Amino acid sequence: MSRTTFTQRKNAVLPVHRRSMPASAPEAPPPAPPKAPAKARVPARQDLQNAKVLVVGDVMLDRYWFGEVSRISPEAPVPVAKIGKTDHRAGGAANVARNIAALGGKAALLAVVGEDEAADILDKLMENSGVDAHLHRSTDIATTLKMRVLARHQQLIRLDFENRPDTESLNRVYQQYLALMPQYDAVILSDYGKGVLTHVAAMIQAARAAGKPVLIDPKGSDYRKYRGAALLTPNRTELAEAVGAWCGEDELEQKAHALRRELDLGALLLTRSEEGMSLYREGQTDHQSTRAQEVFDVSGAGDTVIGTMGLCLAAGCGWAEAMHIANAAAGVVVSKLGTAVCSLDELHAALSRED
Ligand SMILES: Nc1ncnc2c1ncn2[C@@H]1O[C@H](COP(=O)(O)OP(=O)(O)OP(=O)(O)O)[C@@H](O)[C@H]1O
Ligand SMILES: [Mg+2]
Repeated sequence: MSRTTFTQRKNAVLPVHRRSMPASAPEAPPPAPPKAPAKARVPARQDLQNAKVLVVGDVMLDRYWFGEVSRISPEAPVPVAKIGKTDHRAGGAANVARNIAALGGKAALLAVVGEDEAADILDKLMENSGVDAHLHRSTDIATTLKMRVLARHQQLIRLDFENRPDTESLNRVYQQYLALMPQYDAVILSDYGKGVLTHVAAMIQAARAAGKPVLIDPKGSDYRKYRGAALLTPNRTELAEAVGAWCGEDELEQKAHALRRELDLGALLLTRSEEGMSLYREGQTDHQSTRAQEVFDVSGAGDTVIGTMGLCLAAGCGWAEAMHIANAAAGVVVSKLGTAVCSLDELHAALSRED
């Protein structure tokens, strides 16, 4: 049977069916059998509406150009694509905020963009999603943009535009963070390594001092800057980059708990693609297997996980319950085409299927 894989990130734009991830996972053995999941009760709509989450981090715009290819260029041995349709999606921290708003929560977004068309589009997308966006415009940088040209359901090329934000913009973001953060119930720092979280350690300290939980989607190999966070949500590749590869579930558990202790984290949530997720807390490890029925597009699932975790914690859920709900929301998102958010009704339906 032929199987097509789809390797674009952020939201499916093509009906490509995929059942397994590429072999990027560092560990070979299968996970331990999941424990029976605790029953999860989604917070009441009103509680979600009252829950306020501040998302700070790297935002990007995903742009798709769809074209027809019928000839090779006379200038160089490349196809000529005649563009017929364009599509845009909010990516990175903007996608996290969008996921929170889709579940009915109050989401604010704090980030740096350029003074350009991509920033205008991102602003509009956030407004349409009901996200309160604070996008600091800098004339010194271009908004991070990932542009794809697609033809016949294939990606021909991806073009990335990005610059690190300038010091002045970073200082403005930090000052606004200090002003906004006390008004929110939880903080999510979405680190895509593009520079907006240069002051991450100070942001964590300030939130801790104010009694707000900080959830972080990490990047890079040195996690010491994330010390004191309530939760880190690496995927398998990201965790392996920070703690080295593991061989089997026992070694993984030992490494995960060692990192949690070393960084003084409330918990560590490892997202494991088709294996679901594992939550490492003081003296406790919980597993949730994936709830996805069918998988069409996995990109952006990590944004759904951290957004849902943040919203649930802000609405008063405990760790295990928040993880269960986040896993269900991720299962909804990976089985969808064209959009990477889960609505409250879809979440309820997914959880009721587990009963
Ligand atoms: N192939 C898959 N099959 C079933 N469920 C999946 C699959 N991929 C992801 N999921 C669900 O989504 C969650 C998050 O996925 P993953 O671990 O791939 O995060 P990620 O690598 O950070 O994603 P991204 O960076 O693309 O947003 C998983 O814990 C699982 O619940
Ligand atoms: Mg991720």
